[in-house]
Amino acid sequence: MSKEEKILNLILWKYVYFVKFDDTIWILKKINRHKEIKTILDLGCGEGITTICMAKLFPKAKVFGIDHNKNSIKDAKEFATRLKLKNVRFEVADIKKIPFKNSFFDCVISQKVFHYFKNKKEKINEITRVLKTNGIVYMAEFIKVKPELIKDKINYILNYLMNFRLRYYISLKEFLSITEEANLKPIQCDSHCGLSCKGTKVYNFIFQKGNGG
Ligand SMILES: C[S@@+](CC[C@H](N)C(=O)[O-])C[C@H]1O[C@@H](n2cnc3c(N)ncnc32)[C@H](O)[C@@H]1O
Repeated sequence: MSKEEKILNLILWKYVYFVKFDDTIWILKKINRHKEIKTILDLGCGEGITTICMAKLFPKAKVFGIDHNKNSIKDAKEFATRLKLKNVRFEVADIKKIPFKNSFFDCVISQKVFHYFKNKKEKINEITRVLKTNGIVYMAEFIKVKPELIKDKINYILNYLMNFRLRYYISLKEFLSITEEANLKPIQCDSHCGLSCKGTKVYNFIFQKGNGG
């Protein structure tokens, strides 16, 4: 490994641990159990940190990242090129119309993206469409909770500071009702004390696509 690659790796893992540690590390720990994964899609991948982690963890898999932000995709592509990763591809695309055929993916990842959407149902249905039967979804999402549930100090401060407008937060019940309608069965649903926004907690979900559709 060249010096440049070593430095980039260091930056990557520092970023993962110190900025994004909750969601990415959570997925990395969980996903190890599903080594048969051959195709992975990271929806709303941003600069591709999680996507690149997946490409490194599954060198034989084909890993794709899509985001509608051209600059993020440009950065993600540059990052992958510098790391000489051959099994990852990034594309500018909207989650509303995922540019892949039906039942293409073994695994779909989406971290903190769905709070952008007023109409979550059509995008969740898109996940189901591109996922194989029994395929796995790993999601991290801001979920509206009662204020008394935001107990820990870190989250209290972050909740106070991070008061984004124009975000569409829904309750856990509403979220699980949409995923159930889309034929995604919840396997796991945890909330943790990481970065959060006003009135919400971040939940990590694992879903599996059922046989029904
Ligand atoms: C909070 S960032 C999370 C990025 C990345 N998943 C992560 O965890 O670092 C949300 C991302 O969703 C992307 N996004 C929002 N709406 C989108 C859409 N309709 N189609 C594709 N990407 C979208 C944004 O451009 C942004 O990169």
